[in-house]
Amino acid sequence: MEITPEITRLKPSATLAMNELVVQKRNEGQKVYHMGFGESPFPVHESVKKALSMHADKKYYAPTQGILTLRKQICDFYKQVYRLEFMPDQVLIAPGSKSLIYNLIVALEGPLLLPSPSWVSYQHQAHLAHKEIMLLITSPDTSYLITPSMLLASLKNASMDQLSQKLLLLNYPCNPTGQSYSENQLKELVPILKQNNIIVISDEIYSLISYNNHVHHSLAEYYPEGTLITGGISKDRSLGGYRFGVLLIPQGNENVKRSILSIASEIWSSASSPIQHAVIEAYKSNKMLGYIQICTRIHEMMTNYVYKRLNEAKISCVPPKGGFYLFPDWNNKKSSLKSMNLHTSYDLAEYLLETYNLASLPGVEFGMAKSDLSLRLSTVDYDGSLVLNKFMENLSTIEKNSSEFISEFAPNLVASCDILEEFTSSLKET
Ligand SMILES: Cc1ncc(COP(=O)(O)O)c(C=O)c1O
Repeated sequence: MEITPEITRLKPSATLAMNELVVQKRNEGQKVYHMGFGESPFPVHESVKKALSMHADKKYYAPTQGILTLRKQICDFYKQVYRLEFMPDQVLIAPGSKSLIYNLIVALEGPLLLPSPSWVSYQHQAHLAHKEIMLLITSPDTSYLITPSMLLASLKNASMDQLSQKLLLLNYPCNPTGQSYSENQLKELVPILKQNNIIVISDEIYSLISYNNHVHHSLAEYYPEGTLITGGISKDRSLGGYRFGVLLIPQGNENVKRSILSIASEIWSSASSPIQHAVIEAYKSNKMLGYIQICTRIHEMMTNYVYKRLNEAKISCVPPKGGFYLFPDWNNKKSSLKSMNLHTSYDLAEYLLETYNLASLPGVEFGMAKSDLSLRLSTVDYDGSLVLNKFMENLSTIEKNSSEFISEFAPNLVASCDILEEFTSSLKET
């Protein structure tokens, strides 16, 4: 059977492919240290589990936009948690926010401005949609964030017509970098977005996993008319396999809503009915926020631990602000790595997997240059149920004893750091 050339060029998602490789190695009895896949490991909240079993008989197709009770519940949640006002008719439900982002890229006119690095799937989705991409190359010096001056310079360099519509994909906290935007940093971008007719797909799926009690601010607070928020329960509620996502459309954009619903109705019809009923519980802030906060504190403790170990090993990395990822680089060890025949982040990731059974993801998958030597590390290789229980038991002392706690209950994370330290110290200084 022949495959169309475009699809032949497309590889399976790098994250999922790496995970399958690790599972295969583990099935062969090998010990693998898994910093390659970012799945939040905590158990399903009891009230969600109960609701799912109660609604197992909801076998009918749901409305494509999502069931009304759920959309109302989501509006309440966004009002309480994010201080944002939406009406249920502005809310769209789908099997995962990934599908919604794809639909937006397909439906909205104009080229896609894509920060580099950014999440693996955006660029592939844009290719599938035949969308023109313009990369916005960010730097660790500005925490991999888009700044007003670099956005303006990129638009000028590309000689883009100011009036015609463009799309920008912003993801904060960010996978892969763990960085996020402050209130001021978002506000500063708004005049440029408005002047240049830039519509923003604001991927806020990690918003509640913000560290140091940082209050997440959405761009929609300052640019409501041009911001489309996507989110869901895959990360902060550890429910990725439920395949549920949400899109919030600014008021007065019936055409956008109609387009997304038309595509959805031809492709997936609706998100699963029992899941939608169960997810109503997942959007009850009174039941859910405590659980989300504890899980976030654990992500913060684990990710900060890995960051501290990288720092001690003199591996360059921007300190994390949220999510469960770090994006270190070995660019200052280029000539030493070159002498080992390691020229790209792909070579580096492969070497670490083959030599130490340490899985990571190469920065090139996130849009970094071929010669760049960054890796994305995720910090979730531990038993989430055990860690959550023990964390709750030790709540009062945990901050003082976090290293001991991590050594006891997240030994793979400690071993991964040992490996990275051993590998890096074996490199010659340049
Ligand atoms: C940045 C980012 N956006 C979106 C998604 C998709 O999440 P889902 O389709 O499970 O809602 C992910 C998942 O890995 C992600 O990391």
